[in-house]
Amino acid sequence: THVVTDSCLRCKYTDCVDVCPVDCFKEGPEFLVIDPDECIDCAVCIPECPVNAIYAEEDVPAEMMQFIEINRRLAPDWPTISRTKLPLPDADKWKDVPDKLSQFPL
Ligand code: F3S
Repeated sequence: THVVTDSCLRCKYTDCVDVCPVDCFKEGPEFLVIDPDECIDCAVCIPECPVNAIYAEEDVPAEMMQFIEINRRLAPDWPTISRTKLPLPDADKWKDVPDKLSQFPL
């Protein structure tokens, strides 16, 4: 599967969802996750994300390993998002902040 990681938090640029052939992105209030049971590992979403938040599971950096569990845990609870929309209003302010998860736990 593929995994959405820290850079997405508080940003939600949503460029990723338009290209997904299986609509496996799920939307929460401040973050998107990929449903690991739906993702087909096509990888087309990776270059679409302007903040490089998406990784193949085997490529997730060590400091972001907890996002594998977070994507799996939250995917069943959140609705599908399949159309790009406006990012969160403060996205540009948050996009370069590291380790947002420590401030905004999921
Ligand atoms: Fe998030 Fe990047 Fe998609 S910021 S919503 S993973 S385009």
